[in-house]
Amino acid sequence: MAVLAPSLLSADFAKLGEDAVKVSEGGAAYLHIDVMDGHFVPNISFGAGVMKSLNGYETAPYDVHLMIENPDKYVGDFVTDKTEYIVVHQEACVHLHRTLQLIKSHGVKAGVAINPATPVSTLQCILADCDLVLVMSVNPGFGGQSFIPAAEGKIKELARIRAEKGYNYAIEVDGGVNLENARLLKEAGCDILVAGSAVFGAKDAKERVREFNGIIKA
Ligand code: DX5
Ligand code: ZN
Repeated sequence: MAVLAPSLLSADFAKLGEDAVKVSEGGAAYLHIDVMDGHFVPNISFGAGVMKSLNGYETAPYDVHLMIENPDKYVGDFVTDKTEYIVVHQEACVHLHRTLQLIKSHGVKAGVAINPATPVSTLQCILADCDLVLVMSVNPGFGGQSFIPAAEGKIKELARIRAEKGYNYAIEVDGGVNLENARLLKEAGCDILVAGSAVFGAKDAKERVREFNGIIKA
């Protein structure tokens, strides 16, 4: 079984609270919060203040994806009662082990993301410390890009290593996920599917979450 984390990057920013509630009511397991700094990725999205503006709404917990340089400086800003995961990029962290410990010290689960060009093998020494591994299936920076098929192999590799070593991390995929490839990703071993444009581009985002769940929760 897998669950869905709709990415608010593709929501209507003028109605962020309403959109967040809508997908949560539809059965979203997490709200995926895409934070971009214009340095690590060539785009700026929003920061902790915007995320915290959702705290008064009845929503699913937050899965925070930090696409930023120097994440240690900002991790604390994203800690709220509703923050389940904070995910940093392997490529952005010089002292990745220390960064994961920092996230955990706030009582939040710690995840690591890898870009399409980064092999799973770069995580060999840190997998035991990860609560989540995020496989990017597009180059981070923008919603609405096409799925890069090589992500499937990385998901399978992570699932195999987890079984062999008895690790506990969840496997997440992010980028170009849609109703067509959702089953394949679940069957590859993915636990959390992130979808932005495929959810908020639909006429009825709530119904679209239900459609996803019909495929991935089966
Ligand atoms: C990409 C972001 C993704 C993205 C997903 O940089 O991390 O979460 O918004 O959007 P779609 O599903 O449209 O590819
Ligand atoms: Zn993301």
